[in-house]
Amino acid sequence: MSLLIKNGQIVNAGGRQFADVYIEGDKIKTIGSNLDYPADEIVDANGKYVIPGAIDSHTHISMPFMGTSAQDDYYTGTVAAACGGVTSLVDFDMQQKGESLFEAIERKKSWAEGKVVVDYSLHPAVTDPSPEVIEEVKQAILEYGTPSFKVFMVYDFRVDDAVMIKLLKKTKQFGGLVQVHAENFYFLQHMNELFAREGKLTPYYHAKSRPNIAEAEAISRIIKMVEFTDSRAYIVHLSSMEGLEEVKKARYRGINVFAETCPQYLILDEERYKAPGFEGAKYVMSPPLRTKESQDPLWNGLRDGYLQTVATDHCPFDFNGKKDMFGTDDYKNIPNGAPGIETLLMLIHSEGVAKNRISLEKMVEVLSAGPAKIFGLKDKGEISVGKDADMVIFDPDQKFTITQRLLHMNIDYSPFEGVDITGMPSLVYSRGKKVAEWNENHMDFVGEKGRGRFIKRVPFESI
Ligand code: URP
Ligand code: ZN
Ligand code: ZN
Repeated sequence: MSLLIKNGQIVNAGGRQFADVYIEGDKIKTIGSNLDYPADEIVDANGKYVIPGAIDSHTHISMPFMGTSAQDDYYTGTVAAACGGVTSLVDFDMQQKGESLFEAIERKKSWAEGKVVVDYSLHPAVTDPSPEVIEEVKQAILEYGTPSFKVFMVYDFRVDDAVMIKLLKKTKQFGGLVQVHAENFYFLQHMNELFAREGKLTPYYHAKSRPNIAEAEAISRIIKMVEFTDSRAYIVHLSSMEGLEEVKKARYRGINVFAETCPQYLILDEERYKAPGFEGAKYVMSPPLRTKESQDPLWNGLRDGYLQTVATDHCPFDFNGKKDMFGTDDYKNIPNGAPGIETLLMLIHSEGVAKNRISLEKMVEVLSAGPAKIFGLKDKGEISVGKDADMVIFDPDQKFTITQRLLHMNIDYSPFEGVDITGMPSLVYSRGKKVAEWNENHMDFVGEKGRGRFIKRVPFESI
């Protein structure tokens, strides 16, 4: 199968050029002017960008959590990804009690088998950190191709600082890194007890129980541990300007700390928790939405390179039937998480590039080239010869208003319902095969169930 994309503007993190792109099979073969190859399919991309597909490095496909499970499986979740221009995801793989990391990897790969429609990889999440499990890190990196390991400082499956130190050292030794959900558990516990005594149990108090300082403290502690062990860490879903300040200070000092933020923290704010009735539960996620004050610093953090990636933390629970299953009387029982994989690229273009907060090249950097580099997806993240032909033909002028009715995620709401978008994918390719296309007023999935592949990633130091 060959494909020739003509007359488009190729945009990479490092710059743009008007050129044609010729694809044979899975790979980009040639980039040049006026290419005139016979191809099975020829696409005219005049007036459009040709960008690398987005990489969502933070998803929770089918994750069992808080008495239920995140609703998208590897089919529905990756169909939604494809329709949003996300052509790879790196999904969290929660180690179960007593399980080895390898068993966890094989278990989650078996869930993806025959279902996944774009390429994916896994970050093992260490939740039962026996000494044997810490020793498994080497093999997980070098044989299984999973060089990033997630730990949580909160929830029942949190790990303590002693585990963190061991994991930081071990991952560094073999070219890996540790990803951290950074919030101070004891600050949260204190606030929860206080609000319980005062009968403050509506969704709004979910936000109030997890103050910015809880994130900032945890990030600063991780940074000290990274410095102590001369290792590297990556802060997931950084949400507050106070948290960002900690990352900035550390990076000034040359400490190897990387950070991601998410569209919800850039675009939505704490006022959402004041929605009438139980509506605020739609935004119950951790960390919570912050006040508007944090938004400009986060955009500037992306623009200035202090934040290296944007990912979604896609973790969908229906408003009717899941958010309200246990939590109507107490925010602590509302499943934490929200959907987002399908709206990632459109939101970052529309709110970021179209509103002049970040450049087009920066968008490609934080959505594609950055995650490819940090997470060792060596064939992804760039439109260049030899890379996988994971591409989005993007129309910067196409309008869309976000509504769950026209999206594909397996959930009954979008936190971004009603947001007006400028710029949508026209065509999406995964390794040279068309997987999604714009059709009148929405995206259609046109890919093949089960065609996605597991990506063995490379250790950090080899890119
Ligand atoms: O609320 C969230 N973020 N749910 C998913 C689990 C996590 O903390 O990332
Ligand atoms: Zn988290
Ligand atoms: Zn998450």
